[in-house]
Amino acid sequence: MSDHDTHEDLEIWGETSELSMQRVVDTLTTDDDEQVVSSLRPSKFDEYVGQSHVKSNLQISCSASKRREESMDHVLLHGPPGLGKTSLARIIAGELGVGFKGTSGPAIERPGDLAAVLTSLAARDVLFIDEIHRLSRAIEEVLYPAMEDFELDIIIGAGAAARSVKIPLKPFTLVGATTRSGLLTSPLRDRFGIIHRLDFYSREDLASIVRRSAGILAISCDDEACKEIASRARGTPRIANRLLKRVRDFAEECADGVISRDVAAQALGLLDIDELGLDRTDRAFLSLIIDKFDGGPVGIETVAAALGEDRDTLEDVFEPYLLQEGFLARTKRGREVTDRAYRHLGKQPQQRGGQGTLF
Ligand SMILES: Nc1ncnc2c1ncn2[C@@H]1O[C@H](COP(=O)(O)OP(=O)(O)OP(=O)(O)O)[C@@H](O)[C@H]1O
Ligand SMILES: [Mg+2]
Repeated sequence: MSDHDTHEDLEIWGETSELSMQRVVDTLTTDDDEQVVSSLRPSKFDEYVGQSHVKSNLQISCSASKRREESMDHVLLHGPPGLGKTSLARIIAGELGVGFKGTSGPAIERPGDLAAVLTSLAARDVLFIDEIHRLSRAIEEVLYPAMEDFELDIIIGAGAAARSVKIPLKPFTLVGATTRSGLLTSPLRDRFGIIHRLDFYSREDLASIVRRSAGILAISCDDEACKEIASRARGTPRIANRLLKRVRDFAEECADGVISRDVAAQALGLLDIDELGLDRTDRAFLSLIIDKFDGGPVGIETVAAALGEDRDTLEDVFEPYLLQEGFLARTKRGREVTDRAYRHLGKQPQQRGGQGTLF
């Protein structure tokens, strides 16, 4: 460890610790979605629609650790954005009746930042780290003993005089969320006792979410309209809520504020969201592969450059739904569109030499 690192570690105990902790802990409250739809965020398991397998397992873990008066095992939640990972983390804290602190991988820049957050936790609190795959190696090293033995290993001094000091922490539950579990290092993944993957929601579950949100926001939206919005929401509650609000704007301007199926379909058409929930970028993604690369295979970097999109955004946000709905296939040689994509875009599928090997 260099002198520089040692100084950073020592700063934990200096005046900067509180400030840096505030910055690290504040990151969640700057989320737009958090501010605009906090009223729509489910706050209890009962209000959390769908994901029944994940929910019932977590409910059991919560009540068992509450009964034993122990901190719950660390939880890793993974899955595409907007499926309810942050909501679940908050629900877990609520259910356990403990405090909640939230931060994210990129916000924790130095070991001292993490140490400051960890030492501020009360017994059995939930610490939520979003985008946990973006923690640096140095931070992960601090996290390992904290997760395993509830202690911090701090190096004080440098060279021959360096010595390691162990600082005990109160037992806590780490809830980590990631859209890219494949990017997590295995030592970190192994330290989570509970690992769950969130899947895209069914149309019925999304329709219930839209119905619930319409109720909370006092929007007049009939059952068929809720289903219409649900079927175009890419299996994602956050998108369902966003579409509901856009459709409400349209209904207020053009339909006396009442959302029927027709009104919803018209509004969503104006937003360029088709009947399967694909938006302009999804269609551009598929069309590009069809028109410029004969349907693929083509590397994701090439697609990203041609679309002017960030590779991570394509992989995190757009691809999972296109893959799940069978518009796209990931092969060893790159991405290929499927016949379903050709048909959906009104194009003629080509005679191709078979699709590559799926992995
Ligand atoms: N199961 C659910 N029931 C009802 N509403 C939900 C559910 N899951 C998510 N939502 C709604 O979707 C919004 C987004 O959920 P949340 O912020 O928890 O997603 P996330 O998985 O953390 O997303 P990201 O990966 O982008 O951080 C919430 O504010 C809430 O309104
Ligand atoms: Mg989140």
